[in-house]
Amino acid sequence: MDHSNYTVEPMISAKSIAARCEALAAEISDYFHDTDKLIVVGLLRGSFVFIADLARELSLPCEVDFLETSSYGNNTESSREVRILKDLRGEIEGRDVLVIEDIVDTGHTLHHVKALLQSRNPARLKVCALLDKPSRREVDISADWTGFEIPDEFVVGYGIDYAQRNRNLDHIGKVVFK
Ligand code: IMP
Ligand code: MG
Repeated sequence: MDHSNYTVEPMISAKSIAARCEALAAEISDYFHDTDKLIVVGLLRGSFVFIADLARELSLPCEVDFLETSSYGNNTESSREVRILKDLRGEIEGRDVLVIEDIVDTGHTLHHVKALLQSRNPARLKVCALLDKPSRREVDISADWTGFEIPDEFVVGYGIDYAQRNRNLDHIGKVVFK
């Protein structure tokens, strides 16, 4: 993979993300205020930074678990087929579940993950996504809480990769090919 043929331009600053995280966590804590059985489920690997920041802002008792689905591979086209690479460790039946996703793009991943988790009979199943690209949607689905709506650009940083790189940027940037 050639990482020298593109640059990353800043799109959303670390400071804006932190402020948005705080606001989202307040709304989510309010919504689940009566729960003592919340499981926050991060979709690996793109959500690992977001879940760490968001979970620490939640004023709720919660557990953390992870689910990994197949990703784009090394290119920017979404594959319509979604496979579970790593399942949850814990049971979710009768529990409140908050899924944390990095980006809702075509919507296929979220559609598949929600159907899978719903089939296990959680009490409530909600989704918080950091980014949303509504113009790319192929499945009629949306997150219950969204950090930022963005245009149809390929973005990286804050956990999100391009061919596994750039996850460690503290902000969101867009990939610009030279
Ligand atoms: P969907 O199934 O098309 O909604 O794809 C969702 C997944 O595609 C996200 O969880 C990301 O892992 C990946 N993805 C979508 N857009 C981007 C992007 O701009 N940069 C990096 N990964 C992306
Ligand atoms: Mg993903």
